[in-house]
Amino acid sequence: QWTMGSFIELEAERIREQVGAGKVISALSGGVDSAVASVLIHRAIGDQLTCIFVNNGLLRKGEAERVQRVFREWYEIPLHYVDASDRFLDRLEGVEDPEEKRKIIGNTFIEVFEEEQAKLGGADFLAQGTLYPDVIESVSPKGGPSATIKSHHNVGGLPERMQLELVEPLRELFKDEVRELGRELGMPEEMVNRQPFPGPGLAIRCLGAVERDKLAPLREADAIVLEEVKEAGLYERIWQSFAVLLPVKSVGVMGDQRTYENAVCLRAVESTDGMTADWVQLPYELLGRIANRIINEVPGINRVVYDVSSKPPGTIEWE
Ligand code: XMP
Repeated sequence: QWTMGSFIELEAERIREQVGAGKVISALSGGVDSAVASVLIHRAIGDQLTCIFVNNGLLRKGEAERVQRVFREWYEIPLHYVDASDRFLDRLEGVEDPEEKRKIIGNTFIEVFEEEQAKLGGADFLAQGTLYPDVIESVSPKGGPSATIKSHHNVGGLPERMQLELVEPLRELFKDEVRELGRELGMPEEMVNRQPFPGPGLAIRCLGAVERDKLAPLREADAIVLEEVKEAGLYERIWQSFAVLLPVKSVGVMGDQRTYENAVCLRAVESTDGMTADWVQLPYELLGRIANRIINEVPGINRVVYDVSSKPPGTIEWE
């Protein structure tokens, strides 16, 4: 009978056969797929695996610390942490076009990753958290929405450049099975249940040119959204819930002071694969609580609006 337990054993055996005495390197993103793949590979080959985690300066609040804590302390998996925030943010300076932003982030990531793995003495294999739907997508005809989503993945191009053979232990699994596998491997719920987060991170939620002093309030607003959605018990039922910093200023009043500050848009969608999505009818009280907290706690924000567009015709992200 097929169980997650027997899957782990079979897959671990397959990984050992594939890599032999070779060195495997994996790029952690903080997301479920790369984390589960890495933990499974570590189970199979131990310290022949090294994980690299690149802080691109576009992560959520507390994310870099969380990933390091889970890997180093919980699993005792060697984790090579690189803070390349300045390199990413300097290159993004003044760049407004969303696709240009993605390109810069993707290329910088490859550059940093290559440098770091060379410092570590090179590797023979690259671990990737490719899922079954990604496998299907990559053989489906180009041009549909799936082709667009595919181009989002910012580790594309990495294996060819570095001439590494891929290790893809999740290639027969769907997302829900990956979460189940993560649980079976003893990963914390907090990690296994995470909502998807795009590779370019907060850069595509900070509309227009990305600046450090815009990222700070966006990061705070985002943390409030997640905290309140979790508190309301809705986090796991929603595909994604987040804040977008709008490049718009509006007039407000705070105490007896006139304010003229930025607006934040809240976005929450239901989806099964990100290809189509419906906006979520969040309870009014929750919307109100989030708005109040953001306006009161985040300097520079004096207005909060809610996005009621579905996909299509809107996309999930604003950029
Ligand atoms: P859109 O905005 O196209 O997003 O409806 C669909 C899903 O893809 C995520 N997304 C990205 N993921 N790199 C990624 O790794 C990207 O450049 C990117 N852009 C969008 C988005 O968060 C949603 O889950």
